[in-house]
Order: sequence, then C-alpha cells, then structure tokens
Amino acid sequence: MAPTPTRADKFSFGLWTIGYNGADPFGGPTRAPLDVVHAVEKLSELGAYGLTFHDDDLFAFGSTDAERQTQIDRLKQALADTGLIIPMVTTNLFSAPVFKDGGFTSNDRGVRRFALRKVLRNLDLAAELGAKTFVMWGGREGAEYDAAKDIRQALERYREAVNLLGDYVTDKGYDIRFAIEPKPNEPRGDILLPTVGHAMAFIETLERPELVGVNPEVGHEQMAGLNFASGIAQALYQGKLYHIDLNGQRGIKYDQDLVFGHGDLHNAFALVDLLENGGPAGGPSYDGPRHFDYKPSRTEDETGVWDSASANMSTYLLLKERTAAFRADPEVQEALEASRVFELAQPTLGEGESYDALLADPASYEEFDSGAYFNGRGFGFVRLQQLATEHLMGARG
Ligand code: GCO
Ligand code: MN
Ligand code: MN
Repeated sequence: MAPTPTRADKFSFGLWTIGYNGADPFGGPTRAPLDVVHAVEKLSELGAYGLTFHDDDLFAFGSTDAERQTQIDRLKQALADTGLIIPMVTTNLFSAPVFKDGGFTSNDRGVRRFALRKVLRNLDLAAELGAKTFVMWGGREGAEYDAAKDIRQALERYREAVNLLGDYVTDKGYDIRFAIEPKPNEPRGDILLPTVGHAMAFIETLERPELVGVNPEVGHEQMAGLNFASGIAQALYQGKLYHIDLNGQRGIKYDQDLVFGHGDLHNAFALVDLLENGGPAGGPSYDGPRHFDYKPSRTEDETGVWDSASANMSTYLLLKERTAAFRADPEVQEALEASRVFELAQPTLGEGESYDALLADPASYEEFDSGAYFNGRGFGFVRLQQLATEHLMGARG
C-alpha cells in the first residue's frame, strides 16, 4: 500500500498539468477544460498542499481586466475554502503568436517590452497570492536556425530582463525569488540556457545572483542525456535549487512529461534519496515544494487525470520509504564503507599541507602501489547498486 500524502509532504501541481486537455501537434483535445475551483478542491482532497499556474492558465491571454479579476477572485475563494496555497507562479511567454520568436529575447524589441510588462504584472499577482517562487521557463527563447539569432546578444537581453525583474521585486519589497527552468529543445529547435549547468553559469553574470536559482525538470535534463539526480546534487552544492519539476521521461526524445517515476526509476530513487536524506553523508537538502510538472496522457478521462495526480505523490512517498530503508540497512552501510563512498568526504591534502609537503611525501608517489589496482582493489559499486535495486523493488526490509 502506498502511503497517503499530507500537506506536510509539500506536493504541488501546475494548473496546466492536471488541466492538460490532451491536445498535441497531431490531434486536438480529448478532455474538457478543467475549472480552477474544481482543480483546487480535487488537489486538496488528494493531499496536495499547493497549486501553481501561468497567468494564461487562470485567465485566457487577452482577457479584459474584469475577466481576469473574476478568475483571481474565484481562485482566492477556493484557496480560502480548502487551505491550499500558491507556492509558485509563472508567466506564459510561449503560447500567444506574439511570442513566436520568444519573449525576453525576441529579435523584435516591441515584443521584448511587451513580455516584460506581462511578467511585471504577473509578479504583482504572485506577490498578492503569497507565492515565494517565480519560475521562468523560456521555451520560446531560442531558434531553429543559427543565422537567425545572435546568441550573445540574446543572452545579454535575457540578462537585462532578469536584472530588471530583480530590481522590481527588491524595490517593491516582494519576498520572491526567481527560478530559471532549463530545457534543451521543444518547442524551439534549440533553447537558450538548455541545461542546469548553462543556467547556473548564466545566473553568476546577473546583478543580483542571490535572487535567482534554478527549477530543473527531470525530463528536460534527461532529454539531453544527462543524469538528473547528479544535476540536482550540483544545484544543491551551489545553493541554487530554488524549485523542482518532478516527472518521468524515457530516454532522449520529445518531452514526455510522464508521471514521476514512470521513466528512469533508478534515477528517481537516487533523486528522492538526495532530496529526503541528503545523500550518503546526510545533512540538509531541499525543503521547498515537491512540484509535479507532468501531463496526464491524452488516453485518460477525468478519472485517469486524478489517478495520475495521485500516482505522482504515491510514487514519491514509496521512494521516500524505500530510500529510508536503504540508508538504515546495515548491509548497505557496510557496502558504502567497502566502496569507500564516505572516504570522498575526506580532504585530499592534510590540514595545512602544502604542495611542497605533498611533493616530499614518498607514500603518495614513490612508495604508492599503483599496480595493486590491476586485478585487485575493486570498488564494489555494482554490489551497492544491486542493494539499491533490491530496496527499490521492496525485496529487502
Ligand atoms: C515544458 C515546461 C513547462 C514549464 C512551465 C513553467 O516543458 O512545457 O516544463 O511546463 O515548467 O511553463 O514555466
Ligand atoms: Mn517538460
Ligand atoms: Mn517544467
């Protein structure tokens, strides 16, 4: 039996996830639109604590002020009735035709100014609703053709935009941080800031880097053939994991947005272990929302939508149980020791040891038996991975 989610688990869902109507490039909707009030009620009932949304998910692009306000008021009432919160808000700079060449980095300056205005307005709404994180996924910030985009200038415009937003929240006194969401491609042929690494390097060029982190998505890193858990470990190491998009992806192909765990389950195990237990050496990890950015498959009816929402949370909680058992298993601890995993925490040089001292240490070189590593001194990593696999499969304690 999967454990039941509670608010303390901090599970959140995008309105566009459970609200996905099944439309894809090859076919139209297979499901009716989902009303936001119903979405809030169902998520609350299923044990989630938060809802997130793009401006255009709540009120259609081009809505009048009155239409926009009606939807905001309906959402607020539903939140008050259920106790659900809005931990994150994001802006749609990708659906409307005006953004066909991007928002912050469109070649068209008028579009860039319009995009900034749209985001500033949405930041005010995020602050009003108490959101602490503002995600920026630049799905249209990119190109199909190398000649079409001056990448250095595009990055400069991206930087200009994020700097402006940093000034704005600072001047307004908003308690909001930004999280850039990388993705290698889709919908553009190539997207700017395609991976966690690119995004973190870009953040260091900003005027207020402390206000900006990353919102990595499982499938996006895996679309680039990268190890998601390892990318998250580096984001944590650099203090930049401000938000996370959990889902599933099977290999290097289009963005599948499957349920969390319905892709690379081994890597999902490693990820939950990292987020919940802090990895091998333990210690603090991530305490923000566990946000699901998936799409209920277009084969599903509304029952399937809610089943899939629950599946994300159940899988996460099952993995949490399994990783706790993994860490608590004495055989695992012994295998970690044998694999010298803990030894990596030990500095390579002694305290205060200089390169002169290293050069003068015969044990480190002249007497060191490097030949012993041929036909001996294996690390036992496969045994360790098999223990993880057995825990993952529920075959041990
Ligand atoms: C995608 C992205 C989006 C973003 C969302 C938040 O590939 O479609 O993951 O779902 O997460 O737009 O800004
Ligand atoms: Mn995605
Ligand atoms: Mn996402």
